[in-house]
Amino acid sequence: MMIFNIASSRGMRLARWATIGGVLVAALWLMLAPRHSLASDQLRAKKIIQETCVQCHRLKGGPDSRFNLKAPDLIWAGSKYQRPWFVRWMSGKEPPLYAKNYRWDLTTTPAQHPVVSESDASAMFDYLVKNNKDARVKIGGFDLAKVTKFDVAFGGAVFKAHACIGCHTVIENDKLVGGPQSTNLAASGQRYNADWLFRFGQNPQNFTVHNGEFLADATDPQLRALIGFLMVQGVPDFKYYEPWMSHEFVTANVARGKVIYKEYCSQCHGVTGKGDGPAASGLEPKPAIHANIPFEKLPMEYVYNVVNHGGPAIGKSANMPYWNLTIGQQGVADVIAYLKATFKGPPQPEVLGTVLHSGKPEACVQPRKTMTAPADFLSKTNPLPVSAEAIQAGEVLFLKTAKPAACAMCHGDRADGKGVMGAALMPPPRNFTCGPMMMDIPDGQLFWVIKNGSPGTGMMAFSGLPDEQVWQLIHYIRSLAR
Ligand code: HEC
Ligand code: HEC
Ligand code: HEC
Ligand code: HEC
Repeated sequence: MMIFNIASSRGMRLARWATIGGVLVAALWLMLAPRHSLASDQLRAKKIIQETCVQCHRLKGGPDSRFNLKAPDLIWAGSKYQRPWFVRWMSGKEPPLYAKNYRWDLTTTPAQHPVVSESDASAMFDYLVKNNKDARVKIGGFDLAKVTKFDVAFGGAVFKAHACIGCHTVIENDKLVGGPQSTNLAASGQRYNADWLFRFGQNPQNFTVHNGEFLADATDPQLRALIGFLMVQGVPDFKYYEPWMSHEFVTANVARGKVIYKEYCSQCHGVTGKGDGPAASGLEPKPAIHANIPFEKLPMEYVYNVVNHGGPAIGKSANMPYWNLTIGQQGVADVIAYLKATFKGPPQPEVLGTVLHSGKPEACVQPRKTMTAPADFLSKTNPLPVSAEAIQAGEVLFLKTAKPAACAMCHGDRADGKGVMGAALMPPPRNFTCGPMMMDIPDGQLFWVIKNGSPGTGMMAFSGLPDEQVWQLIHYIRSLAR
């Protein structure tokens, strides 16, 4: 069309077109041909949307109560969805979003959604992107490439602390949990465009009002963590950002880190890392004795999380501050470089209070600082039957996957209490191979300490571990006692 307009208005050009000849004409035809059918797809999509979809959905206007609507608004649909999800939804391959119906006041049976072909759905998506973009949504406002595992864990806690789970469902340990009132968020990472979701989170009432919606009092970092959490729901192969692989860590500088250590860390950890800074006398648990920790051997994720996000990020005391805001990413990278360059662990590896192989079996018994579990816990016994599978599942958690830290880091790969962090801890980590000692510790006690930690010691709380996994760990621990 374009060519004809130009050509007919300018005779000169027409002549030139003609001389360039068939090659150009053929090329133009090839370029136009798909556009031509796209255009007809678009016309068809527009027709369906304007004739069918509008019977239930609004495509323009401002937020309104669902009690005045038939279906969720599509006003900002051009910014809201990811194409593959939209196509699946429109072609009938997704479960209902509102388990009790969008209009639960009229019926609580989930709605059957009209179905279109995949190609029509794809064309509708294009149509909506072209005509129903939301100008309020800042493109790149949320950086999905920077979401860390910590963000997602923290976002999950925010999701609960701010009652999101009261009205929305998500999947936790393979079960759908939460109040099924509003939209199901179990696969939200497949469904939403992250920038839209972030803008929605900043003020839901810009999108939905008089609806039962909730405006959470979340800080910007909390909101970002929450969006990170929602964007991994339903995305098992999500690629997490690893800050310790970033530019700041490549250019980290030990000399700068040393200055930071003096200025910020020594007030608690002491100038030489002996845990004897001026604040230490009043603190319980005591600041870690860095001089006893072989930082090179610790997982970077662990060291990064405790320095950047603070003690609670690894299940430890909140008296260990989060340093991200104070010293920035470069500062965190520098001080970690200093920790690694300076502290290599205790001089002799055998400072551990345990005496193994002394001939007398009782010699391995350690003094226990752990408090005794409350009676209703003490009386619990392991509800999982002993099996090779349960023990093996426990082993994987113990050696590798338990969060915030693998048990082996402290308790040792052989569960003898001699992990890389073991020597830095007083009291020392429990030696699970010590039969005479383990015999006297009931299942319920082990369970309670794993869930709650042993305050004032290195033993952190594993409150996020599902009960079943704790019981698997206990089977594994029990399998090692000699
Ligand atoms: C008969 C009414 C009806 C018609 C017609 C209809 N929808 Fe829906 N639509 C709904 C309802 C109700 C929901 C909420 C789904 C649920 O309950 O799970 C919905 C949900 C949706 C959603 C997901 C909304 C969200 O929460 O993000 C999209 C996208 C959508 N419809 C697009 C369309 C398009 C495009 C058309 C036109 C082909 C269309 N719908 C036609 C009733 C309708
Ligand atoms: C008291 C109930 C309630 C609480 C608490 C709540 N929501 Fe909602 N949420 C709603 C309602 C109602 C809507 C509007 C959609 C609807 O009509 O169900 C909504 C909408 C949403 C949407 C957009 C749904 C869509 O696809 O259009 C998201 C995302 C969302 N909420 C996330 C959250 C998060 C995150 C939290 C916690 C900070 C939260 N909600 C807390 C009731 C709630
Ligand atoms: C206000 C006191 C205080 C300051 C300041 C402080 N820390 Fe800590 N830190 C602690 C306490 C207390 C612990 C032990 C927490 C526990 O065991 O529950 C700790 C633990 C740690 C650990 C964890 C060791 C382990 O057991 O896993 C590291 C690493 C650490 N601090 C690094 C630093 C760095 C680096 C700085 C300076 C940027 C710093 N700390 C500043 C109080 C402090
Ligand atoms: C950062 C170091 C550290 C990590 C990681 C750690 N522990 Fe511990 N754990 C300790 C220390 C130190 C003690 C001794 C505490 C005491 O005596 O009060 C301990 C004690 C225990 C006890 C003894 C309870 C009792 O009453 O005697 C159990 C059980 C235990 N840990 C299980 C685990 C399991 C399971 C994991 C992994 C999911 C784990 N620990 C991870 C340091 C750690």
